[in-house]
Amino acid sequence: EKGGWDSYMDKEIHEEPLAVSDTLLGRFSVDGDLNLDEVRIDEDVFRSIDKIVVIACGSASYAGLVAKYAIEHWVRIPVEIELAHEFRYRDPILTPRTLVVAISQSGETMDTLMALRHAREQGSRVLAICNTQGSTIPRESDAVLYTHAGPEIAVASTKAFVAQIVAAYLLGLYLAQVKGTMYRDEIRQIVDNLKAMPEKIQWVLDNQADVIAQTADRMAKAHSFLFLGRHVGYPVAMEGALKLKEIAYTFSEGFAAGELKHGPIALVDEGEPVVVIVPSPRGRDVLHNKVISSIEEVKARGAFTIAVAEVGDPDVEHYADVIFWRPECSTLLSPLTDVVPLQLFAMDMAKLKHYDIDKPRNLAKSVTVE
Ligand code: M6R
Repeated sequence: EKGGWDSYMDKEIHEEPLAVSDTLLGRFSVDGDLNLDEVRIDEDVFRSIDKIVVIACGSASYAGLVAKYAIEHWVRIPVEIELAHEFRYRDPILTPRTLVVAISQSGETMDTLMALRHAREQGSRVLAICNTQGSTIPRESDAVLYTHAGPEIAVASTKAFVAQIVAAYLLGLYLAQVKGTMYRDEIRQIVDNLKAMPEKIQWVLDNQADVIAQTADRMAKAHSFLFLGRHVGYPVAMEGALKLKEIAYTFSEGFAAGELKHGPIALVDEGEPVVVIVPSPRGRDVLHNKVISSIEEVKARGAFTIAVAEVGDPDVEHYADVIFWRPECSTLLSPLTDVVPLQLFAMDMAKLKHYDIDKPRNLAKSVTVE
């Protein structure tokens, strides 16, 4: 059933181009307007939404955090991300104009389900972004946007994560459409760019596997890893760190690059591996330049630097010891390609250690207890 792959995780990473294109499929009417799957919410209600609260756990919460950057930019309403188990046990401010978005691959995560029920009790509408048809979370929600990633077997989420970003982006574009915060042409342009992403992910899979495997070999004995990113690169850094914890049992932490000097840089010692997600160099804007200086800073303290960067970045080569390249794309869409080398890297590290890639110790695919 693994279709010739060593593990389900390997197979599922290689299915990411398809997961993205299938999640985009069938969402548009003939006139190019976006549609959701099952919606028991009136378009007028969507129009009145003035805040989004994403509830999720683990990787799904990082997908939500990626979407925050895009949705706030497109729809101009605040988007908060809250771990479902934290949300549930406090007194969140929800109104009928708040849209709660529950993101879950399995649709059965108890923490997320309890948070969803809590939100509905407070009178909020809940939209589920889910990969499992007919599971509990979408059944209990007011609207559903399915990720069409196909069944995900490996405990470590990979293709579902990229599909969650795509679905959350579609939700953002849908809200921009009903609220009129973007021109139709702008929305279409982004949709076209999204449609080009499967090919870009494929490029990473076809061209970067060797350098990633070689780097894993070099790093096999490392005790810990730091991951740094800014903007959408920040949740990608946290996701990369989570993969390495889950399947390679290696201590790793994702930070916002701007936090370095507020503490984490004290961890950097001779040979410490630091993985940095570098934003697009186009225009060499503040974001790009700041991340490049973060690489410089950790390098000056002896770090072994691994960068994920856009092909043709003229600056990164001066500072990074190793580079995982990705094709050109806009900053907001870059998480879809940038997470791929991090998933492959964690998998290669776990392979070297002969760990069970699909069933890491202590973890379950779906956490059905609180
Ligand atoms: O099924 P869900 O998306 O609700 O699961 C949420 C988390 O348990 C899940 O993403 C977990 O963090 C994965 N093992 C990450 O690889």
